[in-house]
Amino acid sequence: MNVALKYFSGTGNSYKILDTCKEIFIQNGNKATLSSITDKSNINEEADLIGFCFPVYAFGIPRICRKYLLNLPIFKSPINTFILITAGDSDESGFSVKESTEILKKKRLNVTYSKVIQMPINWTVLMNPPSKEEAQLIINTGVINAKEIAQDILDGVLHHHAFNYPSTYSKFAFYKDYYLFKWLGVSNFWKDFRTDETCDSCGLCEKICPTDSIQIADNKPNPNIS
Ligand SMILES: Cc1cc2nc3c(=O)[nH]c(=O)nc-3n(C[C@H](O)[C@H](O)[C@H](O)COP(=O)(O)O)c2cc1C
Repeated sequence: MNVALKYFSGTGNSYKILDTCKEIFIQNGNKATLSSITDKSNINEEADLIGFCFPVYAFGIPRICRKYLLNLPIFKSPINTFILITAGDSDESGFSVKESTEILKKKRLNVTYSKVIQMPINWTVLMNPPSKEEAQLIINTGVINAKEIAQDILDGVLHHHAFNYPSTYSKFAFYKDYYLFKWLGVSNFWKDFRTDETCDSCGLCEKICPTDSIQIADNKPNPNIS
């Protein structure tokens, strides 16, 4: 089987999950390619299985992922597809799976498997990230989940993530935050991007940022406003 895997990853979580799936597919005798949606390479229409992994941003998928999915061609014949979403809290994935699945269906992709995987939260503007030790534990569990998911997919298991309102939100609060984040937050909060005293000014974030959003100024990462 030929598997085409596409991810978007701000800080590596979604990449790690899909790369782990890739390993399992290859170990089971399949061919698998993995690339970022920012690579601009097309998905091979001859693929037998397509897999996507994106982070959840403000209860939806990042704008760059939405744009990418909307620009996919309509496939000539349906291809089995899975979508994995990484989230800082697996209870707070919001509309991310739902909206990706709806777009993929319109592209004639047959979504047979969708799941949310908890990974370390990276929204440092609004939330405190876990300590290094806590993050490592979350990553280890995420990797175990990814291995099980890849095996399930190979075994033909069907799974659809059920949409839920986060348990800590009322329905009203959820919609309020969703629309506030979508129309105001996502386009403004990035300006508050900051690092703390543990930043060693290595400049790696600027080099690897997939959207060119970081600029080193005075030896520290800053939002790239150019
Ligand atoms: C702008 C932004 C918004 C986010 N919003 C949510 C959210 O609504 N719910 C959630 O569980 N995690 C949220 N997160 C956390 C990420 O989804 C999570 O850390 C993800 O695993 C990051 O994946 P990546 O390293 O592949 O970019 C958000 C992160 C960012 C940067």
